[in-house]
Amino acid sequence: MTLKFVVMSDLHLVGHGATSMTLDTADRLERAVACVNDRYADADFCIIAGDLADAAEVEAYERLREITGRIGIPTYITLGNHDDRDAYLSVFGADQADETGKVNHVIDAKGYRVIVLDSSEPGRVDGVLTAAQLAWLTARLAEAADRPIVVVLHHNANALHIEADTIKLHDDAPFIAALKTHDDVRQVIAGHVHLTSTATYHGLPFTTLAGGHYSVDFNADQPSTPFRSLTGPGQMAVILGTPHSTTVLFDDFLNDHSIIAVHTPGD
Ligand SMILES: [Fe+2]
Repeated sequence: MTLKFVVMSDLHLVGHGATSMTLDTADRLERAVACVNDRYADADFCIIAGDLADAAEVEAYERLREITGRIGIPTYITLGNHDDRDAYLSVFGADQADETGKVNHVIDAKGYRVIVLDSSEPGRVDGVLTAAQLAWLTARLAEAADRPIVVVLHHNANALHIEADTIKLHDDAPFIAALKTHDDVRQVIAGHVHLTSTATYHGLPFTTLAGGHYSVDFNADQPSTPFRSLTGPGQMAVILGTPHSTTVLFDDFLNDHSIIAVHTPGD
């Protein structure tokens, strides 16, 4: 009995006829959905980890609903810094927000608990988990003390030694403390940075996936060094969980790497 689920992130959908960073993001999502249906139709569920829309127009969320409606497995969605919660809820329903006011989910499957956290905060680019969410998280972890945990959210909690460290999850210490109330957190998976990474942070395993939009060519520990935006990969993560192993694989459903732009930090 192996848990299998897919994580997408950073769709950055726009209105009909528009592009984002030169890219047709709706077409890229269509390709991602086709990949899930072709290769992971046997998965337990799919999670979409935020930055659903690029500029948070209602039309973009309507496109999201239309295209993700073709995913053949249950799909759980949360928000990122590019999203607008009210616009999202106006399309997907107010009941998508829970008692914390945010779009969190808890999924129990194949002996695991998977917790999805909404780290978006209106008016901010970095991520915020509120006190109410941290209390909610701690309670959900306590209920599942006997089971492995995977957490999925938009913002990376750990710094990656790159330019984007300034917009990671704000004040991560209470989040780490909440996670440490459980003794079997197998992975914390995020999008946001548009690149693939793995790390340990305070003894916990953290992963980022490149997601569906442009990918970032990092400037590790050289914050004044130019870095590039690339057309790919368009990437999803595939998580496989057994009682004693939790594996994250990466599926590059689009594998082109053309240069879109070169960024000089500070310009
Ligand atoms: Fe993004």
